[in-house]
Amino acid sequence: MPLRAIAAGIAAAAAVASCLPPAAASAASRPGALGVGSRDDFELVPFATHATAAVTFVKTSAVVPSTGRSYTRYVSAVDPRYLTAELPAKTGCEELVHATAIAQEHGCTVATNGAFFDMHTGKLNHCIGNVASNGSQVQLPGGDGANFGIVRSKGSVLVGFASAKALRDEPVSDVLQGRGWLVRNGQDWVRKSPDLNTSSTFVTEKAPRTAVGVFPNGTAALVVVDGAETIRAGLDLFEFAEVLAAQVGVQHAVNIDGGGSSVAVVNGKIASKPTCVDTPSPICERAMPTIMCARGTLV
Ligand SMILES: *[C@@H]1O[C@H](CO)[C@@H](O)[C@H](O)[C@H]1NC(C)=O
Ligand SMILES: *[C@@H]1O[C@H](CO)[C@@H](O)[C@H](O)[C@H]1NC(C)=O
Ligand SMILES: *[C@@H]1O[C@H](CO)[C@@H](O)[C@H](O)[C@H]1NC(C)=O
Repeated sequence: MPLRAIAAGIAAAAAVASCLPPAAASAASRPGALGVGSRDDFELVPFATHATAAVTFVKTSAVVPSTGRSYTRYVSAVDPRYLTAELPAKTGCEELVHATAIAQEHGCTVATNGAFFDMHTGKLNHCIGNVASNGSQVQLPGGDGANFGIVRSKGSVLVGFASAKALRDEPVSDVLQGRGWLVRNGQDWVRKSPDLNTSSTFVTEKAPRTAVGVFPNGTAALVVVDGAETIRAGLDLFEFAEVLAAQVGVQHAVNIDGGGSSVAVVNGKIASKPTCVDTPSPICERAMPTIMCARGTLV
């Protein structure tokens, strides 16, 4: 996402597109500001009873019911047993790599971009927030953004706000931290999600978007929407939550990185229309440190 309201410590980044969520760096130093700190307020949804290796991927052009705006979404449904968060195999959070390359090295059938990250070159750690990947807890700072996780040992999907201790104790086998618990119990939850400032451009601007969530039957959902900020193409988070609840039909969903990072990958190839630079452009991939990775058979 382009960063408009930016914390003093990272002000040098203001001129460039960035994948830092607003307030990520400053919430702790602003008492009373947005953020839930380490409060535990999450839902656990049991995996569907029977495992299925089938992965679906459906592109749909539709209209947001309340605003009448056209958009295109890409929705993948995958058994969470076949879903992991992945990083570049050799370098992990140290390097930014195209989603297609990370997906190829991990054998993902369908993949999307992952969590917000620090785009600055020369960083030793580009990952932001909680990251666990197939049983390896890479970093669990806790923090104030909504999480999407998988607790493989208990057969459940975790969605919501969780302290580092709760994430360790569950324990999450996979987790990425977003910003915005968009849908809770099938309801639009944007105005109630304490990690969002609903007046900020992060919420109100039309942009490409990516969410990860779970359907009522325990199947996971990966959702990407095309767009480009400079021509107001794509969805704001109110529209995205409405679409997720009313049209995609998720029970819970979390907003992960969006804007020029949003990308859907099928069998190692780009299947959506990523811009990488927030303006209309030829299909163009942004490098990143994490992806969501669905394995199995495409049906
Ligand atoms: C996940 O880790 C287990 C070992 O804990 C390994 O057997 C399995 O192959 C890994 N899965 C993937 C998809 O990397
Ligand atoms: C929310 O965003 C608006 C618009 O950018 C800003 O004026 C306001 O200070 C923000 N509120 C908080 C609590 O950060
Ligand atoms: C669960 O629901 C999703 C969305 O409706 C659907 O795609 C999937 O096939 C269902 N899975 C099972 C195991 O019923």
